[in-house]
Amino acid sequence: MALLTLSSIETDIGGSRILRGVTLEVNEGEVVALMGRNGVGKTTTLKSITGMLPIRAGRMDFAGRRIDRLAPDLRARSGIAYVPQGRDIFPHLTVEENLRVGLVVHGRGRASDNAGLERVYTLFPVLKEMLARKGGVLSGGQQQQLAIGRALLTRPKLLILDEPTEGIQPNIIEHIGDTLKKLKDEGLDGRPVDLEVQNAIKVLKQEGGLAILLVEQYVDFCREVADRFYAMDRGAVVISGPIATLTDDVVKKHLQV
Ligand SMILES: Nc1ncnc2c1ncn2[C@@H]1O[C@H](COP(=O)(O)OP(=O)(O)OP(=O)(O)O)[C@@H](O)[C@H]1O
Ligand SMILES: [Mg+2]
Repeated sequence: MALLTLSSIETDIGGSRILRGVTLEVNEGEVVALMGRNGVGKTTTLKSITGMLPIRAGRMDFAGRRIDRLAPDLRARSGIAYVPQGRDIFPHLTVEENLRVGLVVHGRGRASDNAGLERVYTLFPVLKEMLARKGGVLSGGQQQQLAIGRALLTRPKLLILDEPTEGIQPNIIEHIGDTLKKLKDEGLDGRPVDLEVQNAIKVLKQEGGLAILLVEQYVDFCREVADRFYAMDRGAVVISGPIATLTDDVVKKHLQV
């Protein structure tokens, strides 16, 4: 079932048409990669979804409700969490304080908060070791994990990530990739798992996993974590399909510079 639908979205920035009719869908529990060369409108698409940029035409629906005229905070409350390009953690707050910012959004009480924090520490153990450190002293990869952890604490239905692998070393990218797969399979309430039982859990895949919309230029990462892809060029989607159809030819034609 479609969780998020964008129909013919047009967005202007400073009087120039940037999005020229973007149509795409994210289904429940699905990981979707939004790809494309620099400057084609990927971030603009995400900002149009979150409401940071107003659209001039088209329609957006999320979880059965039209959202394109809702204020950004109402879209967040309806279950859309956004991790912008280049992180965006609070450098002068500690890791723990940064995470608590995520808890403020949903406000469900302490037991649920603690369970949420434990879940984040299971997914990103490095954060637990660094709770008292200032966000600004973390490495790029650690800041990315903190930003994703904070977003998860808002208990979203849809997690939107803008280039989570940008400027991060390969082993951290791999860890983030594994974590996204885990979230997709188990959702936010999944229990801590060993890698060995991960396959079993995939088989028993439950409903209600988290949906993820990922802007990403790193093709191998997309092939590893995504179910489907969309490739944009000059403000519109030019090709899309199951991730298995993201062939080297498609990459050469639409994604490589
Ligand atoms: N604030 C702005 N003012 C003017 N033009 C802008 C602004 N933000 C984006 N643009 C233009 O809109 C186009 C799309 O930008 P966008 O950030 O969506 O691209 P992108 O696909 O995310 O690229 P990248 O891969 O480099 O992040 C670009 O041509 C960019 O120059
Ligand atoms: Mg961008």
